[in-house]
Amino acid sequence: MNNNLIAVYPGSFDPPTNGHIDIISRASIIFPKVIVAITHNQSKEHLFPLEERVEMMKKSTRHLKNIKVDSFSGLLVNYLDKIGGFVVIRGLRALADFEYEFQMALMNRTLNKKIETVFLMPDQEYTFLSSSMIKEIAILNGDFKKFVPPVVYKKMKNKKGI
Ligand code: PNS
Repeated sequence: MNNNLIAVYPGSFDPPTNGHIDIISRASIIFPKVIVAITHNQSKEHLFPLEERVEMMKKSTRHLKNIKVDSFSGLLVNYLDKIGGFVVIRGLRALADFEYEFQMALMNRTLNKKIETVFLMPDQEYTFLSSSMIKEIAILNGDFKKFVPPVVYKKMKNKKGI
């Protein structure tokens, strides 16, 4: 048992959703310290700049005491090395996530054999939720209030083009 174990929950979080917060809450019960590490996903175009995603995530996780929000650039394995962590948390919603997550977990372990990826399942009410779906609903003027933390809702409502 390692009481200093750091778990890292990486992602683009563009924007943070209630599904992400659900995973973070679950991780905060299991691990003594959880770092939510926000970065740029090379294969996605982001709606919010990194600083705004960090800010939204900080405000949305204020109630959880063992959570730290950070950002990184470059490879996740290098960030883990820098902070002295080897556990990666990822949320697994449905079968559709599996292939991508499996590939990423094994690639990270190939890059650094110490890395372990732990998958957590969100509450079933969030299994269909994704940041990209929320952006689409928002852009098309649908009601997305119940899917995101209040601070994210406010930020999205004030965003030009939404
Ligand atoms: O929330 P996302 O966009 O699905 O998260 C993907 C993310 C950011 C975790 C992944 O793209 C990542 O780890 N990016 C950092 C660069 C890296 O290490 N790439 C190799 C992953 S095998």
